[in-house]
Amino acid sequence: MSERRKRQQGDGVRCPGTSFQDLLDLEEVEVPAYLRENTCDYLGDDDLPVERWISRDFHLREKEKLWPRVWQVACREEDIPEVGDVHVYEIVDESVLVVRTRPDEIRAFVNSCLHRGRLLMDQDGSVERFVCPFHGATWNLDGSFVGIPCQWDFRHWEGRDMRLPELKVGRWGGFVFVNFDRHAPPLEEYLAPLPEHFARFPLHDYYKGVHVQRVVRCNWKVGMEAFMESFHTVQTHREIMTFTGDANSQYDYWGDHVSRSVTPMGVPSPHLGEVTPEAVFRDILDRSGRMALGSSEGQQLPEGMSPRKYVAEMNRQIFEEISGEDLSDATMAELEDAILYSVFPNFQVWIGYHGNIVYRFRPNGDDHESCIFDVMLLFRHRKGTPKPPGVPVHRLEPHQKFAEAEELGALGPVFDQDDANMPAVQRGMKASHKRAVSLASYQESRIRHLHRTLDKYLNG
Ligand code: FES
Ligand SMILES: [Fe+2]
Repeated sequence: MSERRKRQQGDGVRCPGTSFQDLLDLEEVEVPAYLRENTCDYLGDDDLPVERWISRDFHLREKEKLWPRVWQVACREEDIPEVGDVHVYEIVDESVLVVRTRPDEIRAFVNSCLHRGRLLMDQDGSVERFVCPFHGATWNLDGSFVGIPCQWDFRHWEGRDMRLPELKVGRWGGFVFVNFDRHAPPLEEYLAPLPEHFARFPLHDYYKGVHVQRVVRCNWKVGMEAFMESFHTVQTHREIMTFTGDANSQYDYWGDHVSRSVTPMGVPSPHLGEVTPEAVFRDILDRSGRMALGSSEGQQLPEGMSPRKYVAEMNRQIFEEISGEDLSDATMAELEDAILYSVFPNFQVWIGYHGNIVYRFRPNGDDHESCIFDVMLLFRHRKGTPKPPGVPVHRLEPHQKFAEAEELGALGPVFDQDDANMPAVQRGMKASHKRAVSLASYQESRIRHLHRTLDKYLNG
C-alpha cells in the first residue's frame, strides 16, 4: 500500500522508535485511562491560505463570528479574590467587567456606560458600585441600576431596563471563562473531556505564582500554533534534544475544542544518534526548567538506572515534600513529560505535578497582526495551609526579552527562541509567493484541528 493511501486511511505513519504509548508500558504504577487514549485521526493534507493569518478581512470574520461565540478565559479566580474586585477583560473591541459579586459568585457585564458609552472602568480595581467617571451614572455590583445625577433630565429612562448587559460566566480549574453568546452550550460541555483528564490535577486549588504578559508581533493563531507541535524542537530548541523525545510525541484531539500533545522527556530525541544516559540526566536537570531540581550539580545517575525513571523518582520525592501529598500513584509521564492541552480557540494548559504552564493568545485590540501573549505558572501549595494569593501580571515592554522576567527561570530563554520565530512567521507569510502554508500530516495535526474548528465557527 502506498504511503499516501495509508495516511488517507488514518493508518498512523509515525516516527520510528519508542512512542509515548511504549513508554507507558514501562510504568510501574497503574496508568490512568486518559494517558492511554490515542485518538488522532488523519485530518487531511491540504495547504491553508496565508490569508487566514494575515488578512484584515479574515480577522473581521473572526471578530464577527468567532470571539462573540466561544468560551474564553478572562482571568483566574485569584485575580479577583474579594467581593467588589474587578478584572477588565478585553477581546478585540469588546470590554468586560468581570466582578466578584459575592464570596462565591462571579459575574460579567459589558464595560460601557448606558448613558454616553464611556468605559465604566479603565483598568482592574476594587469598587463598591460601578460609578461612571464621566457624569456619575451608577450601578450595583449585580448590574442593577442605581441612578444618574439630574435624574429629572432622564424621565425618558423611567420604565426602561437599565441593568448592565450581562455575559455568561463559567468556571473551571480556577479559571473564569466568559461567553458573549446567550445561547452558548454550558462550559462543561464545551470543555469535555478536559475536566475528566485533569481529575488528578485540581487546578482550582493551585495558585498563580507567575504571570508574564507581552505583546508579540504576529496574529494570535501564529502564537497559539507555536506551542501546538514539538516538531520545531529540532531546529528551534536544539539544546533540549538530548532529553526530549520530540519526534516521538503523541498528538490527540477530542471533539471540536480540545486537543493535546504529549512529548516524552528523559529520553533522547530520535534525531540524535547515541546519547549517554548520563548526558540525558545532566541536561534535563540543567536545561528543562520543569524538573524539581534546577541543576545537575552534585547529582549522579545510579548505575543501571534509566534517567527517565530516576528523574521521575526525584521529582516524585521533592513534589511530595512541597505539597505534603502522597504521589505514590503518579506515573513517570505525569511527573516529567510535556503534556499540553489546548482549549479552542486560544487557551493552553499543561498537566503534571510540576508547575503547570498556561498560555493564552488574544488579538492585541483590533490589530490582527499583533497579539497579547500571557504565560502563567500554577503551583501547588502545602496541603492544609492557606492558598497563597495570586501574583499580579508582570507586563513586559514589546522590546523586552522573556528572559528578563526572571520568575520564568529556564523557560524564559526557551520562549525567546519561540519569540524569534513568531513575528518572522507573520512577516514571512506576507512575503510568501506560494501564498499558502503546508502542515505535517501528524505532528501538526493539532493546528489543522484548530483551523477545522475555526471554519465551523466562521461558516456556522
Ligand atoms: S457616559 Fe457615563 S455617566 Fe455619562
Ligand atoms: Fe517552542
